[in-house]
Amino acid sequence: MINFKKEIANMISECTQINSEELKTYIEIPPDDTMGDYAFPCFKLAKALKKAPPIIATEIKENIKSDGEIIDKIEIAGGYLNFYINKKTLIRNVLEEMESKNSKYGNSNIGKGKNIVIDYSAPNIAKPFHIGHLRSTVIGAALYNIYKYLGFNVIGINHLGDYGTQFGKMIEGYKLWGKEYDLNEDPIGKLTDIYVRINNLCKEDENVLNECRNNFKKLEEGDQYCTELWKKFKELSLKEFQKVYDLLGSTFDSWNGESFYIDKMPEVIEKLKASGRLEESEGAKIVNLENAGISTPIIIEKSNGSTTYATRDLAAILYRARTYDFDKALYVTSYEQNLHFKQIFETAKLLGLDEKYTNSLEHVAFGMVLLKTGKMSTREGNVIKLEELLNEAISRAKDIIEEKNPELENKEEIAKKVGIGAVIFNDLSNSRIKDEIFDWDTILNFQGETGPYIQYIYVRTKSIIDNIEKLPDVKEININELQDEEEIKIIKLLYQFENVLENVIDKNEPSILSRYLINLAQAYSSYYNSNKILVEDIEKKNARIYLTYMIGNVLQIGAKLLGIDMPNKM
Ligand code: ARG
Repeated sequence: MINFKKEIANMISECTQINSEELKTYIEIPPDDTMGDYAFPCFKLAKALKKAPPIIATEIKENIKSDGEIIDKIEIAGGYLNFYINKKTLIRNVLEEMESKNSKYGNSNIGKGKNIVIDYSAPNIAKPFHIGHLRSTVIGAALYNIYKYLGFNVIGINHLGDYGTQFGKMIEGYKLWGKEYDLNEDPIGKLTDIYVRINNLCKEDENVLNECRNNFKKLEEGDQYCTELWKKFKELSLKEFQKVYDLLGSTFDSWNGESFYIDKMPEVIEKLKASGRLEESEGAKIVNLENAGISTPIIIEKSNGSTTYATRDLAAILYRARTYDFDKALYVTSYEQNLHFKQIFETAKLLGLDEKYTNSLEHVAFGMVLLKTGKMSTREGNVIKLEELLNEAISRAKDIIEEKNPELENKEEIAKKVGIGAVIFNDLSNSRIKDEIFDWDTILNFQGETGPYIQYIYVRTKSIIDNIEKLPDVKEININELQDEEEIKIIKLLYQFENVLENVIDKNEPSILSRYLINLAQAYSSYYNSNKILVEDIEKKNARIYLTYMIGNVLQIGAKLLGIDMPNKM
């Protein structure tokens, strides 16, 4: 597809002799169309050309070679040059690209040969899969899909919390009271109860605490009884987690959790020792990171000799660098772990790895999910069972559908797409670092900026397309029939899609895509409300049908990249 920015940069380059790649980075998209489709800020060149911006603007305008095929008109506005692109060229390009790429519209090869590791979801064994893990799962999956769509080789890792001193306690609790609990039903709830109980006992009784520590030691040494119990906890938990993953449609390339790194930690300790930075402090082994502006030291080994979450993450960095040769390694967790990631990224520089790896570690942090207390099913105060939450989303969606469209077939299936889609979209709709308020009425509002809204607009496009005999051939479309203001606006949005995806991975910010889909859906909705699609005039009709088809196609592709399935009816 034609790249207008690049074309404009080339034209300016020809008359200024400045590198066109550099020029391209200066070109802006003005906030509204009255300032052109693209704008070039001439003050960026004032220094290099030793001239005032208005003079530069005038000279470029006079000397630029443009045959009208790409640029319609150039205007000077202060120190800016405003470029109005040739709308026919734009429309023709979008139509042809849509026809040739179809359901692959927007995909590209810019990531070819690059490996991206995404560490996401990562719930903890024997603990509830909570709403923060849901956010990680949803953001991680969206990034995974989008990187992949742009040609990157992506490795999705579920770094399960399946190791740590808490398992010494779990084992002790199970030894003492296991018989009282039937783990076949709600195993995570029961294991959490056991954990709370043993923790309380540990506070009262030093001997029990010592037993727990001893269990963890035994587990580290491979003791059979302890290992079997740990395995049992893990299996039961994974089975529960899978229910959530099935509802969301999540998959992972690797399930290597923390326990995978047990035998890989000694190397980390060796390397840190060799770096001369490992220190003893009150019996623990630490690395002081003050020189990097991090006032809390990282603990590599506790005073009782056990390793830590951080040590396992360092071992994982070594392993992932060697195994996946990553060009980027992303960690999707809440901002509560900011310090942890700062510490491990800094400490990773002491492991003797190539800078290529240590410079490409990135914490993709997100905000908290705040609950509007009320009808939401909770157990134990504010711990929400995620499976229940997702099922509630489905049943609420079903109630709405029942009310709006009682005749609909396959209500169950549609309610699942709408309910799950609503929850996913909600997690992705605002900039990820913002805290989010979870409120049923907002996320399921068919007219709001929601997943169901996008699905609803998609379904409208689909019903039009399904009711015509066949999609018109692009060659038969009269471009003059797509030049109204609203049509141009839609086509410009469609043109931007690939660029939107690139912006998502630039900032690791899926909300850029969510906002875009809302804009696209709203633009079509307003078009549809003021224009009949199936008009008498054949040329008008064909053009409008094709526009409708393009919208539906891009909404579907975009939603799928976010992890949302489209219903065919709703
Ligand atoms: N299990 C951790 C938690 O629940 C998240 C793990 C994130 N990944 C990592 N490599 N540390 O908070």
